[in-house]
Amino acid sequence: MASTTIVKPQWSLSGIDCQRYGGLKPSPSAKFCHLGAASRRQPSRRLLVVRASENHNDYSIKKMGMSDAECEAAVVAGNVPEAPPVPPKPAAPAGTPVVPLLPLSRRPRRNRRSPALRSAFQETNLSPANFVYPLFIHEGEEDTPIGAMPGCYRLGWRHGLVEEVAKARDVGVNSIVLFPKVPDALKSPTGDEAYNDSGLVPRTIRLLKDKFPDLVIYTDVALDPYSSDGHDGIVREDGVIMNDETVHQLCKQAVSQARAGADVVSPSDMMDGRVGAIRAALDAEGFHHVSIMSYTAKYASSFYGPFREALDSNPRFGDKKTYQMNPANYREALIETREDESEGADILLVKPGLPYLDIIRLLRDNSPLPIAAYQVSGEYSMIKAGGVLKMIDEEKVMMESLMCLRRAGADIILTYFALQAARCLCGEKR
Ligand code: PBG
Repeated sequence: MASTTIVKPQWSLSGIDCQRYGGLKPSPSAKFCHLGAASRRQPSRRLLVVRASENHNDYSIKKMGMSDAECEAAVVAGNVPEAPPVPPKPAAPAGTPVVPLLPLSRRPRRNRRSPALRSAFQETNLSPANFVYPLFIHEGEEDTPIGAMPGCYRLGWRHGLVEEVAKARDVGVNSIVLFPKVPDALKSPTGDEAYNDSGLVPRTIRLLKDKFPDLVIYTDVALDPYSSDGHDGIVREDGVIMNDETVHQLCKQAVSQARAGADVVSPSDMMDGRVGAIRAALDAEGFHHVSIMSYTAKYASSFYGPFREALDSNPRFGDKKTYQMNPANYREALIETREDESEGADILLVKPGLPYLDIIRLLRDNSPLPIAAYQVSGEYSMIKAGGVLKMIDEEKVMMESLMCLRRAGADIILTYFALQAARCLCGEKR
C-alpha cells in the first residue's frame, strides 16, 4: 500500500524548515519532494514529503461500493477479502550454518531494525539552534584564508563577516562568537586595546546589531589577541601572569563589549575570580541583562594550535599551564564549576570538546546550568585533513562528532563546522 509521510519540520528559523539529523531519511527508492513553491521566503509552504512506497497495487485501489456493515458481515460470513500474500522468508546465502535460536529474552537489535524505529528511539538530537559559530575578523577588506584551518577565513569585518553571518542565519544558526586579529602595533603588555570602544570588536558588534538586531553575539573576554606577550593576562618581569590586575582589565573589556551590544560575554582567560568581578562590573554599568558564558574547564591543550596561527596569538614565551588546566585532571573541573556557579555564570563551557567528553558529562551531572562545548580548531582541522586525504568521510565524521558532544551533555556547541553542519541538517549539500 502506498503511504505518504509528512516529515514535520523539527524547527523553524530564518524562514526555513529543517529535518532533525538522524531522523527519517529517504530510502534510495523513496521520493523526496517539496510541496508548493520551495522558496526560502515562503517557509510555511515548504514541507518535506517522503513516500514510503511507490508500489501501488490493486488491494488498496479497488472499491466494492459496500457499506461498513456489509464489509463486517462479509468477514463474519467467512468471505475474507484478499490481501497481499505473506512474503516468503528471505533466503540466507548457501553455506549459512543452521543453528538453534539463542534463548534470548532481549534482542536489542529489534529496536534498531528500520530507519523509522531508529528515528523514534533516538535519544539525542542535533539542531542548528545548538550551534554557536566562531568567526575570525580583521581590519582588512578581503577575506584571508587560514592555512591551518581549511575552509576558515579571517573575514573583513565590514563585508565578508556580514555575508557569512547572513549565510549562517539562512540555515538557522543565529549565534556567533567573534575573535579579532589585532594589528601588532595595537598590542601592548597590558592589552589596553581590549577595551577601546572604537576597537575592532565593539565596532563589529555595532555593525552586526544594526544589520541583524536579533543575532545573538557572544564575545571572547581575554587579553591574548591584544597582548604583546601573547598571553591571556598581564605578564610580570619574572614571567608570572598577574591575576587580579588582569581581572581588572577583563572587566573593562567585558563592559566595553556589552556597551557595543554583546549578548553574552565569555571569559576564556582562566584567571581566578573573573566571573564574579565581571558580573559586578556589568551590573554596575546597567548591563544586568548581559549573560556570562564562563570557560569553566579550559585545558592547556595543544588542540588550540591552528587557532593561534589564525590570530597570530602564540605566546611569545612559555606556555599557558599556570592558568589553563592540566589535561590529566578531572576532579579539578568541579572546583572551577563551584566557583563559576557561585560567582554568577550563566553558562559553563568545556574546552576542547571531543577529547574531553568525560568533563562535559561531569559538569552536566553536577550543575543545573546550561553546558557549552567548544570543538576547537585542532579538532576541526583534523577532521578536515582526514577528509581531504580521503581517509575518512568528512561530513559523516563531522555530524557524528557534533552528535557525540550533545550526547555527552552539551546544550550548545561552539564549532567551526556550524554553517556546514547546519546546511547538512537542512538537506543542502555543498
Ligand atoms: C584565547 C582563546 C583560545 C581559543 C579560544 N580563545 C586559545 C588559547 O587559549 O590559547 C582556542 C580556540 C580554538 O582552538 O579553536 N583566549
